[in-house]
Amino acid sequence: MSHNPRRMLTRRTFLASGAAAGAVPLLSWPSQAFAGPATPIRLSAAPGRARLAPEPHGLTDVWCYNGTVPGPEIRVRQGERLRIVVANGLAEETTVHWHGVRVPNAMDGVPHLTQRPIGPGEEFVYDFEAVDAGTFWYHPHQRSFEQVGRGLYGPLIVEEAEPPRADRDITWVLDDWRLTKAAAISDDFGNRHDMSHNGRVGNTVTINGRIPELFAVKAGERIRLRLINAANARIFGLDFEGHRPVVIALDGQPVTPHLAPDGLVVLGPAMRADIIIDMTGEPSSRSSVIDRFYRDLEYRLVDLAYADTALRESAPDWPVALPPNPLPEPDAAGARRHDVILNGGMMGGMVMAEMGGSTGGRAAQGMMGDMMTMMHGGGIWFINGKAAEGHIMDPMLTLARGQSHVLAMTNATAWHHPMHLHGHSFRVISRNGVPTPHREWQDTVLMAPKERVEIAFVADNPGDWMFHCHILEHQAGGMMGVIRVA
Ligand code: C2O
Ligand code: CU
Repeated sequence: MSHNPRRMLTRRTFLASGAAAGAVPLLSWPSQAFAGPATPIRLSAAPGRARLAPEPHGLTDVWCYNGTVPGPEIRVRQGERLRIVVANGLAEETTVHWHGVRVPNAMDGVPHLTQRPIGPGEEFVYDFEAVDAGTFWYHPHQRSFEQVGRGLYGPLIVEEAEPPRADRDITWVLDDWRLTKAAAISDDFGNRHDMSHNGRVGNTVTINGRIPELFAVKAGERIRLRLINAANARIFGLDFEGHRPVVIALDGQPVTPHLAPDGLVVLGPAMRADIIIDMTGEPSSRSSVIDRFYRDLEYRLVDLAYADTALRESAPDWPVALPPNPLPEPDAAGARRHDVILNGGMMGGMVMAEMGGSTGGRAAQGMMGDMMTMMHGGGIWFINGKAAEGHIMDPMLTLARGQSHVLAMTNATAWHHPMHLHGHSFRVISRNGVPTPHREWQDTVLMAPKERVEIAFVADNPGDWMFHCHILEHQAGGMMGVIRVA
């Protein structure tokens, strides 16, 4: 079955879309930080203001790193050491997690589990090596559903020693905000409805912190586009109309170059894709990038606007494959198997409340909520029958270090879940029993309702690692566990 979350989405209209908005060209990167051996990077988390929505809307109060949304793009070469001083200028505790980077456990940024959270006014120094080249990102792991939702995130790009040739290397950090008519962030974070349905899906999509209108390109140009989904809950399915994007990396890890399946680049929350796009349109033409993930809710994300003159006559034939990263190859045949089952949410135990309809729905929902609380101690989502209540818990699995392991995961819910494992990348080896064509490396795998997915990896990084849904409201609602590698 495929449950369509349309109803939750149509309640809200986009604050600005298409022709209604003024022409806002997509700006280049607001700020960059380059690491060098002598200069640690400073990231300061604090309240700030950002121009998310175009005039006549005002600025939006956000929480951000170094005064910008997204935070600075950190760029290093593979093998370089990163020293990052995080200063907490918020009124609450925070941490920074380096999503997808295979760091030592103590640098993983999970409050209480791997470090004491950084208190207001305090600093913490993260220090690790960029072992894999690729497209990564950083964000807090403390109350992520609100801290990330208010704008705390940024890209972390690790360059290959010899990247494939492209005319431009561009990062698009996608986010989805729930804004009020006055362009303020709606403060209904962590409400039970979002938690039990598809999470905090918003009404305003930004690229690099702006509602984009145009992205300027040239005919014949080759662009390496690094897409990062920093949204709490929105899943994107991008159609670059008239173009044929070639996927060269997923979640930072190289993949056999292939055309995006069905022409859609799909990104669940926290997921990344590196694509090579040849600008094959005519000079002076325009084409749209459409997000088609949710059926009947397509919208135009941005237009590619071609310059009057071409850069070259036809697309270049430069090779696109990326060099491999130093990942240990799992032995799927000799691996130990572990079953993981995901349960909960609306249409699971909570279907009754939904049937209450619009009149009396609230009461029914409240009643159901109370029943759920009684039944499960407050959790809404469960991994192997347990709902997390914080980051400290007994491991759901203990994996022998240095061994290959297969997690055979079943999504027994009516919703999508992007499942993320810390400290490791894994191969996605099958979906519903069928081997995947590319055995892609990922750190976050999107599971459709009722889908079964097998992942394989060598548990080579010792420590306690989070394993959770990256729909941040699902994570907060219990869909999180600890996997110990010992
Ligand atoms: Cu991107 Cu546990 O997080
Ligand atoms: Cu989920």
